[in-house]
Amino acid sequence: PGQVCVNVAEHWKRLLLALSVMVRYAQTAAAPAPEPRIKKFQIYRWDPDSAGDKPRMQTYEIDLNTCGPMVLDALIKIKNEMDPTLTFRRSCREGICGSCAMNINGGNTLACLNKIDTNTSKPTKIYPLPHMYVVKDLVPDMSNFYAQYKSIEPYLKKKDGTQEGKEQYFQSVEDRQKLDGLYECILCACCSTSCPSYWWNGDKYLGPAVLMQAYRWMIDSRDEFTEERLSKLQDPFSLYRCHTIMNCTKTCPKGLNPGKAIAEIKKMMATYKEKKAAAT
Ligand code: SF4
Ligand code: SF4
Ligand code: FES
Repeated sequence: PGQVCVNVAEHWKRLLLALSVMVRYAQTAAAPAPEPRIKKFQIYRWDPDSAGDKPRMQTYEIDLNTCGPMVLDALIKIKNEMDPTLTFRRSCREGICGSCAMNINGGNTLACLNKIDTNTSKPTKIYPLPHMYVVKDLVPDMSNFYAQYKSIEPYLKKKDGTQEGKEQYFQSVEDRQKLDGLYECILCACCSTSCPSYWWNGDKYLGPAVLMQAYRWMIDSRDEFTEERLSKLQDPFSLYRCHTIMNCTKTCPKGLNPGKAIAEIKKMMATYKEKKAAAT
């Protein structure tokens, strides 16, 4: 009889569980669909291939209930479901490649790291990176930026090239740590295109992103071209157009500090000039 008792109790327990699952399912099925949360996105459009096209803003409406949380999710949704002609760059969707840099609600940032403002009473405004030539829609022309990056020779340089590739170049833990906060730069150009000096003199002033990389190689303990690297920046524009406005540091989506790196180069430059003057 004890066994029978246990079986009956178990039977009732299972029955009750099944009933509660059914009730919960019925409740869920009957739950009203969530209120749509319609958000407007106003996006810069310009197509050089359509004759006479002038830059304009185009508005798209998205129900945030059916969209991922980031601005890049909204752009991808628009492109996939509403307007395949919308053009923008993206690759990694996790703040690594730097290709989705654009101006969102007035600030330069990465669309994949920027959360959609869920206040549906305000539209989100999206432009390409400012003061750059536009290739199409949100795609800026990065040619000048990359040419400037190339000009600083962003790689390890040794005086004796004959030993290249023959052995490892060791670096102490302390020296390696000096590169922290510099090597993480993903060259998105958010900082350079937020810098007023770069807006006005982008052809001659190297801008914060490229200068920070110049500094990264100047202070690398394995590099032997620090003085030559400094000497190349001696003209009035390449380095000295930085007026420490610090827009660059404020906008960097990776939390880096190009303004500080530039200040450090200026200090190194002062020492270098003193040393050069003393030698003559
Ligand atoms: S600190 Fe220098 S590089 Fe940075 S925004 Fe200001 S002027 Fe530009
Ligand atoms: S310093 Fe920051 S904002 Fe500038 S290019 Fe590098 S990652 Fe982008
Ligand atoms: S998609 Fe790569 S940084 Fe945004």
